[in-house]
Amino acid sequence: MKQKVLITRQIFPEIVAEVGNRFEVEHNDQDTPWPPEELARRLAGKAGAMTTVMDKFDEPILARSPGLKVIANIAVGYNNIDVPACTKRGIRVTNTPGVLDDTTADLAWSLLMAVARRIAEADAYVRRGDWKIAFGVQYFLGQDIHHATLGIIGMGRIGQAIARRAAGFDMRVIYNNRSRLAESEEKRLNATWVERDRLLAEADFVVVMAPYSPATHHLIGAAEIAKMKPTAILVNSARGGIVDDAALVEALKAKRIAGAGLDVFEGEPKLNPDYAKLTNVVLTPHIGSASRATRMTMCRTAAANMTAVLEGRDPRNPVN
Ligand code: GLV
Repeated sequence: MKQKVLITRQIFPEIVAEVGNRFEVEHNDQDTPWPPEELARRLAGKAGAMTTVMDKFDEPILARSPGLKVIANIAVGYNNIDVPACTKRGIRVTNTPGVLDDTTADLAWSLLMAVARRIAEADAYVRRGDWKIAFGVQYFLGQDIHHATLGIIGMGRIGQAIARRAAGFDMRVIYNNRSRLAESEEKRLNATWVERDRLLAEADFVVVMAPYSPATHHLIGAAEIAKMKPTAILVNSARGGIVDDAALVEALKAKRIAGAGLDVFEGEPKLNPDYAKLTNVVLTPHIGSASRATRMTMCRTAAANMTAVLEGRDPRNPVN
């Protein structure tokens, strides 16, 4: 008899079919996240689950899923899962590191460039029909990216991919991370470690790329924003909650900094309503890794991790 598995959101039909060759699959092809009660009900009798960052696996859900052996998150982040509680219950947790670094770095850069060159504002202006005179010396003056200082907070794999891209813009790269990279890595990336306050004070672009945890909750709040240059741009495509949205909204309103590019929000998809009223912010709906190729690879990686555990092998990307 095939073991039963749950895929909690719509993925790609070919991957559902691949998983179906080995397991009996229940797949949420409606693509609306199941509320906790329904998730718990559907997990009954399942040995594995392929999940997204929207599915909260806390102790009460785990307690109702005694047959569950593996949670394979289709994400590099796993702050939706209570990992110590899983470990206690002997449930393996896996993620998808590595395969999304470049795509996520591309998105961080897209936000950075969109804000610096006011792309969203300019696009809206053209669409509204406000573009009446072909060229204006002072139209949508933005900021130069080339030769500017890029400050990266969180220099893991994705932070490093962001740093590598800065070479093409002849930028100075400074970074802050819990641990310093090896000197050879710093050289390769042309990046210099600095204290966080110095990074905030010197960077023209501050890009946050740290995992979310209690230690990084509101890592960027009013006090940190106050240390940034008035011309600086903040980018967060890591996790909501690392930036204090209320503080950022106030700073953007007061033009305390020049702008922000945001892919993630506290309590998303709920949005601080003031963000939508501001023109100096570009907003995207948590699409950091959203290229077709990368999302396919993430799903295949999660499927392979889940399969390994359910077939008694070590998964390639264990979290616990
Ligand atoms: C997405 O947010 C991820 O963690 O991969």
